[in-house]
Amino acid sequence: MVGVWREQWEQEGYLVVPGIFEPERVQRLLALSDDIHAQWIKRDAQTGKPSDNPDATSMRHLNHADYFLDRPEKHFTELMDAVADELVLGLCRAILGEMPLFRCTTYWFNPTKTGQDGNWHRDTQFAAKSEDDERAKLEKAFQESAGGIQMQIALVPSADVEYVPRSHLRLDTPEEHHIRRADNFAHSRSNEMPGALRIPLQPGDAAIFNANGLHRGRYHTDKLRRTLMFTYTKTSAPFFDYFSDQPWFLRPGHLAPLNARTRAFFEPFVAAYRGKWKPEVREMQAV
Ligand SMILES: [Fe+2]
Repeated sequence: MVGVWREQWEQEGYLVVPGIFEPERVQRLLALSDDIHAQWIKRDAQTGKPSDNPDATSMRHLNHADYFLDRPEKHFTELMDAVADELVLGLCRAILGEMPLFRCTTYWFNPTKTGQDGNWHRDTQFAAKSEDDERAKLEKAFQESAGGIQMQIALVPSADVEYVPRSHLRLDTPEEHHIRRADNFAHSRSNEMPGALRIPLQPGDAAIFNANGLHRGRYHTDKLRRTLMFTYTKTSAPFFDYFSDQPWFLRPGHLAPLNARTRAFFEPFVAAYRGKWKPEVREMQAV
């Protein structure tokens, strides 16, 4: 199985694993994630402010300690056990060729006011200074094996991701470039992308795709979306930025409720980044 996963990932740029989580677990994760989402709307744990934009489609850091302050301990352990699940990590290990390192949790949900088709993109375009810079980044990435994994696990039926298989191995064709970048991104929400594949997921199914390939989401008010996304990097290649900046892991006893196996997965994450994390403001106020 491991060989099949890796081959599909390398050749096609995406992978679907049906039923990675069983139905009962999906229901528990759905209730838990919706509870965190509802808290986030009232108060984003990172900013301390409400997140009441009806056009929002995602929230980061579901595992922020503040979302578990007055909740049963099993809320926290349920989420962390899912991130460190044996099958999930086995899949990551097969793709990365080494032990994955935790990076981030994200919840994707449908907007409630304005619906729209997503914009076709490669994630490389957001970090690039120019089109030439992006081309150089992509050409470098084509030479290397996977550096990171985004695993989306549907908690309700979802067909909101589209991908162009094998586009992670090459630059845009002229047609693709016209849709993705031309005229200052004016055509990027086109429904005419050649070779686009919609990825349907049932609750508990996991989809992973190489974000250097062409992809987009769909954000329709009338299409319920509740998808958890777990992100991992290679343990040998940690990357400090907004996603790995999670100083609440330094709160005393933060990992104590976890079982030994799950705790052992998060300890290398803390070790990799603790030197970069600044003390939380709330702790400074308490001093
Ligand atoms: Fe993306």
